[in-house]
Amino acid sequence: MSSGQDDRVADVAAGTGRDDDSILGLGPAAPAHETGIVLNVHDVERIAARVLTPGASAYYDGGAWDESTLRDNVAAFERWRFRPRVLVDVADRDLSVEVLGRRWPTPFGTSPLALQRLACPDGELAAARACAARGATFTLSTLASSTIEEVAEVGGPRWFQLYMTPDTDWTMSLVRRAEAAGYEALVMTVDAAPLGRRERDHRVGLRLPEGIRYVNILKRPPGVRPSGVPDDEGPQIYAKEFLKEALTPADLARLVRESRLPVIVKGVLRGDDADAVVEAGAAGVWVSNHGGRQLDRAVAAVDALPDVVAAVRGRVPVLLDSGIRRGMDALTALALGANAVFIGRPLLWGLAWDGERGAGAVLDMLRDEFDLAMAISGNARASAVDPSVVVHADLAHMARRIR
Ligand SMILES: Cc1cc2nc3c(=O)[nH]c(=O)nc-3n(C[C@H](O)[C@H](O)[C@H](O)COP(=O)(O)O)c2cc1C
Repeated sequence: MSSGQDDRVADVAAGTGRDDDSILGLGPAAPAHETGIVLNVHDVERIAARVLTPGASAYYDGGAWDESTLRDNVAAFERWRFRPRVLVDVADRDLSVEVLGRRWPTPFGTSPLALQRLACPDGELAAARACAARGATFTLSTLASSTIEEVAEVGGPRWFQLYMTPDTDWTMSLVRRAEAAGYEALVMTVDAAPLGRRERDHRVGLRLPEGIRYVNILKRPPGVRPSGVPDDEGPQIYAKEFLKEALTPADLARLVRESRLPVIVKGVLRGDDADAVVEAGAAGVWVSNHGGRQLDRAVAAVDALPDVVAAVRGRVPVLLDSGIRRGMDALTALALGANAVFIGRPLLWGLAWDGERGAGAVLDMLRDEFDLAMAISGNARASAVDPSVVVHADLAHMARRIR
């Protein structure tokens, strides 16, 4: 990284930025991508698009088919409008929330994201370090490019995301490794078998560079990928043969029975499904459409949230990802009943920008934006944000009646 970039990271970390001119009314600041000022996640996204290889960029940023859910995840947050309270003492703010018995300093954790070494040499280790320094929970993907044990050495709160394979014993060997390495929860992803069709991947034809592999699953389960597919073949192909397609509630129930760790189910978009997974023993429900990478035209995650929250009835925490780009998004999600939210692609963009520091800057930006949004909306405690804080834009004109 150049020293100019160094300064900019320092500016972001210090929250100072360089837009004094506009603050003083001396005229609008030039667009960030022209001046190099990095103010928000959108700026980081643009930088990542410039520095990532075309293959990595396609893999990270692509969504399924027409990518309409990918876009709608972000747009949907904007359709929820705030109803700010005034004359509230917000001088002392508490951003912390509680999830599965642990107090989180902010409502942000990070989503499981495969192959983070495509973004920077240390990949998941850099991201986990950025999280650990801030007490944020890092979720390691089964398809990570760093091992379960390496990431554990970083320290910090961590969860392990589990993809079920066709071989139960082999799947359980991953669970045992996560248990032994101090992961605090399992995140069972249920929306990714089979994989969605991401056309950007097919156009670009990503092949894994030398030294970047799915290191946790190098020893393949029996019956998986018997022959012929070279190791650098694109993620789609390997994952396709690795994932168990016939997932049932019995798989969840068995995992709950056989693991010492709480099991959170990721990829739920319906209240009836949420109720079923809680009945089957899930310790948490993670609302997600996989960042628009699975079923295109699936409902935006934030729009699915109220149905899930109503069905869960407070029995377990409700978590959400897909579309978190601003601190305001976390405020909306909390108002609609989520206990915490998870950062997906912005973490990858931060890593691509500047490794651990870039990832940390993304976490800090979102925290600072959330803090400010809390204050201006008249909310002093994250754990006390209630549904009256938001109204859907379609109903905003009649907010009083629906209070
Ligand atoms: C490049 C990439 C890799 C991903 N890998 C995984 C994975 O291995 N396991 C998983 O459960 N979800 C995976 N996801 C989905 C994320 O956990 C998360 O649901 C999604 O990124 C949220 O959408 P957003 O990033 O647009 O906010 C991946 C997403 C991306 C973009």
